[in-house]
Amino acid sequence: MTAITLIQGDITQQSVDAVVNAANSSLLGGGGVDGAIHRKGGPAILDECRDLRASKYGKGLPTGQAVATTAGNLDARWVIHTVGPRFLTGEDRSELLASCYRESLRVADELGARTVAFPAVSAGIYGWPMEDAARVAVETVRATSTAVEEVRFVLFDEQAYETFARQL
Ligand code: AR6
Repeated sequence: MTAITLIQGDITQQSVDAVVNAANSSLLGGGGVDGAIHRKGGPAILDECRDLRASKYGKGLPTGQAVATTAGNLDARWVIHTVGPRFLTGEDRSELLASCYRESLRVADELGARTVAFPAVSAGIYGWPMEDAARVAVETVRATSTAVEEVRFVLFDEQAYETFARQL
């Protein structure tokens, strides 16, 4: 049974086995959660991301997929990088967003992670409306069978926190 918990805060400060990064296909960093993770985690994470690009993901990590690195200076042991879809009006891309959660949990299971922190993937720079991002996140985690014992959604501001709380 996976417990779903919510906290308002900074994902880089969570003491969990794995934190999920709302990355982009390049895996080479960016703003938002991605920028914060690389800043706080230090260059070891980026080195591993570069290796992943050179080996497995020459064209980048496809949207909806997930891959792990170690976590550098973060408290967590691993960072699971996933690429959310950009929100596009008039196109239902929620299956790709759901895939981010499912694939991240699959990678967490492979690693043996028992506690995993997620941000609201796609709900920042990628423009997804928070209410719908929260719905997809909560529904998908509830429907996914995993050995992860705690999925912690880490919401940056109060409004995002309250939106997730409503969905839960
Ligand atoms: N801790 C928790 N949540 C955060 C933090 C933090 N430190 N910082 C931002 N958020 P975003 P995306 C919230 O933009 O929409 C990057 O450039 C934020 O308020 O990080 O998937 C990547 O490289 C929002 O609610 O991710 C990609 O190019 C949520 O986390 C692109 O942004 C997600 O916002 C990915 O965009």
